[in-house]
Amino acid sequence: MAQTEPYITADGRQIGGVLMDMRGITLRFGGVEAIKNISFDIREGEIRAIIGPNGAGKSSMLNVISGFYHPQDGEVWFRGEKRKPMKPYQVARLGIARTFQNIALFEGMSVLDNIMTGRLTHMKTGLLAQAVWKGRAEREEVANREIVEKVIDFLEIQAIRKTPVGRLPYGLKKRVELARALAAEPKLLLLDEPMAGMNVEEKEDMSRFILDVNDEFGTTIALIEHDMGVVMDLSDRVVVMDYGRKIGDGTPDEVRNNQEVIDAYLGVAHE
Ligand SMILES: Nc1ncnc2c1ncn2[C@@H]1O[C@H](COP(=O)(O)OP(=O)(O)O)[C@@H](O)[C@H]1O
Ligand SMILES: [Mg+2]
Repeated sequence: MAQTEPYITADGRQIGGVLMDMRGITLRFGGVEAIKNISFDIREGEIRAIIGPNGAGKSSMLNVISGFYHPQDGEVWFRGEKRKPMKPYQVARLGIARTFQNIALFEGMSVLDNIMTGRLTHMKTGLLAQAVWKGRAEREEVANREIVEKVIDFLEIQAIRKTPVGRLPYGLKKRVELARALAAEPKLLLLDEPMAGMNVEEKEDMSRFILDVNDEFGTTIALIEHDMGVVMDLSDRVVVMDYGRKIGDGTPDEVRNNQEVIDAYLGVAHE
């Protein structure tokens, strides 16, 4: 894809310039090279899928983007600037939020409180300031609540807002995790297998929410997904990884017809 001019997709969404640019990323764990000199970009407004067999390095790539892992080689560019090595909370402050392959919520806490934790990166008022300047802390709390309520409405989880997360079925936990990420009002949202383990109906719901988030808030989305039907339906472009290498990159149609991708991934049975 040489095209770098903004364009409108067939379904009327606007795609802008490059938002995230990964250049020559290499990541090693001891002797294991999880990512081998991979470059790809994510454009503003895009839904970008990352696919490939288990162990290909997909989650590692999201972890590099979100600052959990630091590559030995390569550059991460975000909004036209080269990013210095950063801690995850600093990356979050730049406007990058994520969900995890294995759900990471506070099981004993309510849905509402879990989603409120998504606002933490935005809270300017520390404990001391709260004590001496109550008004400001209260205004901040009200503003945070408003955003959280908007997310709860949007994801249609009003009915479970007080339920402890531990009691929810799997599909709803995944939705709460998405809600927490959205509460941070991210510019870029990273979803690691948001539909893994879901039944058909849950997948349809999640697909619709992902599209709606992208459409209504203009959020750029990078997602790892195994269900090829979902990938083909949702994504504007797809990166294909295999054993830490990039073996394909393009529109869903381009990737689907790429022989190396068929041999390594699409043509073989996988979950
Ligand atoms: N924290 C880690 N320590 C050591 N090895 C890791 C770590 N995370 C991932 N790996 C290794 O990196 C490779 C890629 O893993 P991962 O990124 O989880 O793949 P995927 O998400 O595509 O299934 C695997 O060989 C995995 O064992
Ligand atoms: Mg993974």
